[in-house]
Amino acid sequence: MDPVWTRSEPDLAICANAVSLLMPHLEPYVVASIRSQLPRLNSEDPPLAARAGAYATQEAQHHGQHRRYNDLLTAHYRGLSRLDRAMATVFGLLRRRSDRFGLAFAAGFEAIAFTAARWVDARLRLLRGGHPAATTFFLWHLAEEVEHKSVAWDVYRQSLGSNGRGGHLSYAWATWVAGVVLAVFSLLGTWVMLFHENRWWRPNVHLRLAVWSVSFIFVALPAMVVSSLPGHHPDKLADPAGLAHWLDNFDPASGTIPEWAQP
Ligand SMILES: [Fe+2]
Ligand SMILES: [Fe+2]
Repeated sequence: MDPVWTRSEPDLAICANAVSLLMPHLEPYVVASIRSQLPRLNSEDPPLAARAGAYATQEAQHHGQHRRYNDLLTAHYRGLSRLDRAMATVFGLLRRRSDRFGLAFAAGFEAIAFTAARWVDARLRLLRGGHPAATTFFLWHLAEEVEHKSVAWDVYRQSLGSNGRGGHLSYAWATWVAGVVLAVFSLLGTWVMLFHENRWWRPNVHLRLAVWSVSFIFVALPAMVVSSLPGHHPDKLADPAGLAHWLDNFDPASGTIPEWAQP
């Protein structure tokens, strides 16, 4: 398939591809952080253990699908394999950090993923004319990010114990790290693909990316600040209207979801 899967908004497809490239590194780290808590949760909080186990399975499915899709990307764009290796190095280093950091990173990354879902939900028009399978894949992932927005947060808070002292600072720091890693690698991946698509030299492309980035920061930053304050819970964040209902289309008999149709 054409890696630029929405020809009416090629730069959006390229940005989404760049994010996809990072997921088989980032999501397994998040899954490992949450799974490390399962033995303790099973004895201390079985309902949360069940939610955390389901969450880890869902995320594992995400990065497995991303890996398959990324194989298409790395075969198509020279230079992405090197970036993929750099990502592996960074996440190898992150895995040496404490369990507490890993859990805070998972909770912080989920807040960013939820924000991404909100940003896209308000801009579904950009996906008009996109390849049906790629568009469905993109929205399905974001819808599940909405669905499980509070699980990593709950596991992180539970791990802090009853007083939870210092939890907000660790969360704010880990969220910042997750945001910077995501931003830097997304930018580099986007540049590699723009270069190969002969779009890197066009000023209007960079202007458009800058506008999207600023609008994303305007959505993300307040959510990041609010979620670092005492008393916050992700359930307080309003779900994006379109994506919240996307999973209603799931067919349990076939285990599939219909391809996304133009609204
Ligand atoms: Fe995910
Ligand atoms: Fe997630």
